[in-house]
Amino acid sequence: MKWRVVLDEESSPMRVALIGSSGQLGCDLLARLQQVGHEVIALKHADIELTDESSLRVLEPLCPELVINAAAYNLVDKAEDEPAAALAVNALGPRSLARLCEFWSCRLLHVSTDYVFGVPPPAIVKPYSETAVPSPTSAYSVSKLAGEHFVLAECSRSFVVRTCGLYGLAALRGAGKGNFVETMLRLGRERKQLRVVDDQRCTPTSTVDLADALVKLIATDAFGLHHATNSGSMTWCEFARAIFRLAKLDVEVIPITTVEFGAKAKRPAYSVLDCSKLASVIGEPLPDWHDALARYLASRPA
Ligand SMILES: NC(=O)c1ccc[n+]([C@@H]2O[C@H](COP(=O)([O-])OP(=O)(O)OC[C@H]3O[C@@H](n4cnc5c(N)ncnc54)[C@H](OP(=O)(O)O)[C@@H]3O)[C@@H](O)[C@H]2O)c1
Repeated sequence: MKWRVVLDEESSPMRVALIGSSGQLGCDLLARLQQVGHEVIALKHADIELTDESSLRVLEPLCPELVINAAAYNLVDKAEDEPAAALAVNALGPRSLARLCEFWSCRLLHVSTDYVFGVPPPAIVKPYSETAVPSPTSAYSVSKLAGEHFVLAECSRSFVVRTCGLYGLAALRGAGKGNFVETMLRLGRERKQLRVVDDQRCTPTSTVDLADALVKLIATDAFGLHHATNSGSMTWCEFARAIFRLAKLDVEVIPITTVEFGAKAKRPAYSVLDCSKLASVIGEPLPDWHDALARYLASRPA
């Protein structure tokens, strides 16, 4: 299959409505979209409520050519206690949004998660492509998978992009639930020893790099499902060690199992995504995770 790839310099500016603009990804998307010349209408939670169809109608007079949904219910463990709330934000809201976008002949970009692959993999482990069969094992991942299906079914010009373990500077300003890097840095300054899960392999991803890739993707007509993470993979324990090494914090990281950690929601043992489809669409893979982490740490305010 061939896609029409249009690079930043050539792409015509679009009028973009960005839902979730104060979240981790939303903040970096807003900056990157504006940088390449798009006209962006930034919508925070106070401006639009995904679960309220009448609220979604604020989009109509704005006449966007593209709507980006970077908002979500992201509290993975809490969702086990309130699955209906997760479903409302992550699936039913996006379904209404997708229907409206189709009606307005507008494009839609929606963001999903590697957690749709929840069941332990077979003996031979290889990154999941977009055609792999999902197997969600938590209320959060079920709600996100339902959202993907609704968006793809209801909006003919939609992009659905699965990503993993996001970290962005907006977390420092209180966006969303925070992120793993900031949690490690905080705990690493308080303690000499930390126990970190070592049996979940995935690819935590910088929102700066993801935003850059998404801005390239929207300049194409490669609608459908895409995987987008930084390159490579690691366990959370390996990631924590890399964070402390780069941040020059002397912390002993003790590997533990998912069972020992005891989180309420089930997490995938392996959810590495094969991002080669996106790389062929936008002309390059996202940067390696070591490089992304080093840039993130260097960009943090002292
Ligand atoms: N974070 C991760 O590790 C991760 C991993 C894989 C995939 N993803 C996906 O990537 C996307 C971006 O994640 P992120 O980490 O940037 O999220 P985030 O920082 O938690 O931001 C989400 C934003 O959505 C807003 N929001 C929540 N409920 C809403 C509602 N009902 N209506 C309108 N806005 C609402 C939040 O506003 P308030 O805070 O004001 O409520 C917040 O600004 C999401 O689709 C997420 O599922 C994230």
